[in-house]
Amino acid sequence: MRSVKILGAGSIGNHLAHGCRERGWAVTMVDRDPAALERTRESIYPSRYGAFDPGIRLSEPSAVAAEDFDLVILGTPPDTHLPLALEVLSTRPPRVLLIEKPLCPPGRRGCAELLARAEAAGTRVLVGYNHRLTRHTRIAEQWLAEGGLGEITTLRAQFREHWGGIFAAHPWLAGPAETYLGFTERGGGALGEHSHAINIFQHFARLAGLGRITQLSAALDEVTADGAAYDRIAQLSVVTESGHLGFIAQDVVTRPAEKWLRLQGSEGFLEWQVNATPGCDRVLEQREDGFIREESVAKSRPDDFRGEIAHLEALLEDPKLDSPLDLTVGLETMAVIDAALEASRSGRSVRVDYALAS
Ligand SMILES: NC(=O)c1ccc[n+]([C@@H]2O[C@H](COP(=O)([O-])OP(=O)(O)OC[C@H]3O[C@@H](n4cnc5c(N)ncnc54)[C@H](O)[C@@H]3O)[C@@H](O)[C@H]2O)c1
Repeated sequence: MRSVKILGAGSIGNHLAHGCRERGWAVTMVDRDPAALERTRESIYPSRYGAFDPGIRLSEPSAVAAEDFDLVILGTPPDTHLPLALEVLSTRPPRVLLIEKPLCPPGRRGCAELLARAEAAGTRVLVGYNHRLTRHTRIAEQWLAEGGLGEITTLRAQFREHWGGIFAAHPWLAGPAETYLGFTERGGGALGEHSHAINIFQHFARLAGLGRITQLSAALDEVTADGAAYDRIAQLSVVTESGHLGFIAQDVVTRPAEKWLRLQGSEGFLEWQVNATPGCDRVLEQREDGFIREESVAKSRPDDFRGEIAHLEALLEDPKLDSPLDLTVGLETMAVIDAALEASRSGRSVRVDYALAS
């Protein structure tokens, strides 16, 4: 039986614990805050999945520090990811380590060391951009590969979602200042929290042959209020390796949410959307010659993570498999976040620097 340790018994920790239990894995959830373990048992897990699963072991970190696990998941705030990852890799490295998104706070400090330690430990490290592995993403990839869009001319992606939903899922928090969400510098704000948009743009740009983002200008609406300091809107105007222009928007103010990507081609367009209608993701392709196809994929919140967890299972079998969640990909998303901050704050267009300072 596979064994998994999940650090962080909060919102994502519960989602992933449930997904791992569906696979029959032995799950240990660890949190440094006893109240979080109590909440998991008494409210988060039962309210989401009907009842607490007594097969899940809840523990203080130190009580399981000497145990080995096949898989370790970091479901803690972004500013804890790197120190925890380095500790895991240098003490009891698992076969696979999944770090939640965003990989780290802006600046990528410690990332070169993370890469080196992962290599030395022989651990496969991933970053949890789960939307790359949902069913409707697979459909969009397949339709794009069929080539009916002609020459791709531009790509746009947006994850705009008021963070009221996130706070509703964290009723124990009084507001943004009580968590990393309220601080861009800790990996929160629109840029970090909704970095799914940058990441899914990068995914489809690569598949469409546009390459990486090389240059960008950006405008961030940065606010300081009630003890918090965060960007509530981030708009990025980007250029790719192929010289194509694209646009990415992320915000924590739009309701209802818009989580959407569009590939425009000379012969048609393809749209990818999360929660296009309640409980449904959608893919739409429309061509100049009148060809139209649309697929709505009914899904529940657990489905958002099932593709990711199935992929983890495949990697545990064969850690050499290609992965769309690879650490290098999560690092590329961080490089764009860093460039966006620099561009907005300097008022200049900047080149995206993918090199890591050692
Ligand atoms: N992929 C997704 O769809 C998705 C969804 C939600 C959250 N996330 C990401 O997951 C991460 C956590 O978000 P969340 O909403 O679950 O946060 P949360 O506040 O609900 O939970 C985080 C938990 O980590 C615990 N923690 C902090 N430091 C710790 C440490 N050193 N050791 C052990 N536990 C520690 C805290 O006590 C807390 O209980 C963030 O990076 C967030 O962006 C991703």
